[in-house]
Amino acid sequence: MGEGDPAIDALQHDGATYSPPADVAAGAVVSDPAVWTRAADDRIGWWEEQARRLDWASPWARALDDDDPPFFRWFTGGTLNVAANCLDRHLAERGDRVAFHWEGEPGDRMDITYADLHGRVCRFANALRALGVERGGRVAIYMGMVPELPIAMLACARLGAAHTVVFGGFSAEALADRMNDFGATVLVTQDEGWRAGKRIPLKANADAALERAPGVAHSVVCRRTGGDVAWRDGRDLWFHEVEALAAEECPAEAMDAEQMLFALYTSGTTGKPKGIVHTSGGYLTGAASTHRMVFDLHDDDIYWCAADIGWITGHSYIVYGPLANGATSVMYEGGPGFPAQDRLWEIAERYRVSILYMAPTAIRTFMKWGDSLPAAHDLSSIRILGSVGEPINPEAWEWYRDHIGGGRAPVMDTWWQTETGSIMISPLPGLSTLKPGSASGPLPGISARVVGEDGREVPAGRGGYLVIDHPWPSMLRTILGDDQRYVDTYWSRFPGMYLAGDGCRVDSGGDYWLLGRIDDVMNVSGHRLSTIEIESALVDHPAVAEAAVVGRADPVTGEAIAAFVTLRDGVTGDEALIADLRDHVARQIGAIAKPASIVLTPDLPKTRSGKIMRRLLRDVSEHRQLGDVTTLANEEVVSAIADLATTNPHQED
Ligand code: WTA
Repeated sequence: MGEGDPAIDALQHDGATYSPPADVAAGAVVSDPAVWTRAADDRIGWWEEQARRLDWASPWARALDDDDPPFFRWFTGGTLNVAANCLDRHLAERGDRVAFHWEGEPGDRMDITYADLHGRVCRFANALRALGVERGGRVAIYMGMVPELPIAMLACARLGAAHTVVFGGFSAEALADRMNDFGATVLVTQDEGWRAGKRIPLKANADAALERAPGVAHSVVCRRTGGDVAWRDGRDLWFHEVEALAAEECPAEAMDAEQMLFALYTSGTTGKPKGIVHTSGGYLTGAASTHRMVFDLHDDDIYWCAADIGWITGHSYIVYGPLANGATSVMYEGGPGFPAQDRLWEIAERYRVSILYMAPTAIRTFMKWGDSLPAAHDLSSIRILGSVGEPINPEAWEWYRDHIGGGRAPVMDTWWQTETGSIMISPLPGLSTLKPGSASGPLPGISARVVGEDGREVPAGRGGYLVIDHPWPSMLRTILGDDQRYVDTYWSRFPGMYLAGDGCRVDSGGDYWLLGRIDDVMNVSGHRLSTIEIESALVDHPAVAEAAVVGRADPVTGEAIAAFVTLRDGVTGDEALIADLRDHVARQIGAIAKPASIVLTPDLPKTRSGKIMRRLLRDVSEHRQLGDVTTLANEEVVSAIADLATTNPHQED
C-alpha cells in the first residue's frame, strides 16, 4: 500500500461534509467536544467510568491487568452477572417495557417485555441446569432469529456457562467442527427456520452434525415451523416442554469479570476457524457503552439492528448492548424481500423505528430495488442510522441518508470486528462532522493508528496497517484453545500493537478511511470468509486437484467469491460438475460460501516457491491489467486463465 494505490485513490474524499443535525446535537448523550481528550488523558479511568454504569456483585480490584501482555485482563477481582445486568436490574422501573418487538417472517408478531424475557430466561436456565449445564459449562446454539435465541444466550449467561452461536446458514460440517472445538455438551436448535419463504432444515443439519459430535449429549429443539423432524428419544427435547417444566426462580450467578461469556468462530487466514473468546465484565462494558453513545440512545428510542444474532453484530447490538441499556428493540426473523421488497420499511414504519443499523450490502440491495419502496412508507421517525461490516461507498452512504434517513439522519459508519467485541471507530451523532465513506475516528478511550511495514506511523493521506495500540475492555482474550495462534495472528507483526488485518488511511483532517482486508480474508455481504477455507472445501471434492479462491469487487455484495479450479487428470469439467462443486462448498461450509463464479483451468499461476498468486487471479477476475508477474513461474498460464475467465465465467446467484 502507499501513494497511488488504486484502492486509496478510489476513496479520495470529494468534499461533502455533514455537521450534526441541530436537534440531535442539542439533546445528545455525548455532547462535550472534549470527550476524546478527556478519555485519552485517563484511558483507564474512562473505562472504569463506563464499567460503573453496570451492576457489579462485587467491585473490581484492578481495572487493567497488563502484567502478561498480550493476555490483558479487565476489572479483575470484580464479579457480575451479565444476564442480571440485561434483565433483572430493569425490572423495578421498566419491567413492562418492551424489550423486543419481535416479528416473524410469515407475519406473526410478539411483544416481549423485560419481565417476560426475565421469566423465560430463568426457566430456560433451570432447564439447562437440569441437563448438566453449570458454571463454566458449554452450550452451542444453532437457530434462526426467534426469541428463543436470545433467551438461550441469556440463560447461559445467567448460569455462568459460555455459549457459542453458530449462524443458521452454516452447514452440518461447520456446526460439528465448532461444537467439537468448543466442547459443547448441549445444543439448542430449532425444527426449521423461515428464510425468504423457504424452510431452512436446522434440526436436520443439527442431527447430521451431532453424528460427528459425540460430546453433545442433548439437543433442545425449539418448535418454530411445526414441520416434521426426526427425533431421537433420550437425546432430543422440546424447548417448550423443558421450559414449561422448569421453575421460574433462578438466582443469577455472580461471575468473575474474566469468565468467558461466549466464543464466536470467525474465519482467519488458515482453514480452521478461530474461536474468539469474550469475557463478561469488559465485553459488556464495551457493548453497552458504545451502544448508548454511538446510537445516542434515549429512553423513547425504538432501536433496530437488522443483523443476524449469529454474527458478532447481533451479539453486541441486538442482545447484550441494547438489553444492558434497557432499550426497546425490533427483532425480525426473515429475509428483507419477503413477501415484498419493502418489508423492512413496512416494519420500520409500524414500530416507528428511530435508530436503524444495517450492513452496506443490504443498503446497496435496497438501492437496486428502487427509491419508490422506502418512499411509500413513513420513515419520519428515523433519527440515527448506522452501517457496519464493510466499507460503505459514498454513493450508498448518501442514498441511505437521503432515502431512509429523510435527508436528515446522520449515518454512523462503525468499524469494528468479532475480535474487538464492540465498535472501535465511529462518529458520535451529536459531535462529529461526517464525511461519506469515512468512519470518522476512534471512539473515546480507543487508540487506533495507521502504520507502515516498519511499524511506524505513516503520514496523513498515506495508506497502511490499522493497529490498536492500547488494550480496551471488550477486546478478545485469546483464541479458544490456542494462545499461540492468538499471539501470532494479532500481536507479532508489530510488537505491542493489535493488528486488525485491515488497511486504513487517515486524511489530513484526522478522519479514518477503511480500505478493506490486507490478508486472505474476504468480505462477502459483510460475512467474513477465508479464501483458504473455501479452497480446502473445493479440494476436498474428488474431481478437484487444486483450487484458488479470490474475492473480486462486486457492486452489491462488496466482494464476490471467484474460484479457479484445476481438475484431476481424466476428469472432464462441465456445467453439472461446476454446479456440484458449488453444492459441495455449501455442504462443507454453508450456502454463504458458494463461489459466484468457478473457472476451470488447466493450471494455476504460482511463484517459484509454489505459492499461488491470488493477486493475479484477482486482477483477472476484475478484468484489470495484470500486476507484477516477475516472480511468476508459469507465466503463460495467467493469460490462458484470463481468456477462460472472460469466455467461461459461470456466474450464478
Ligand atoms: C470489515 C463485523 C470498513 C473489516 C463487526 C473488519 C468494516 C471486518 C467496517 C470484521 C466498516 C467491519 N468499514 N470495514 N465500518 N466494519 N468491517 O468480524 O474488514 O464479521 O476487519 O465483524 O469487517 O468483520 P466481523
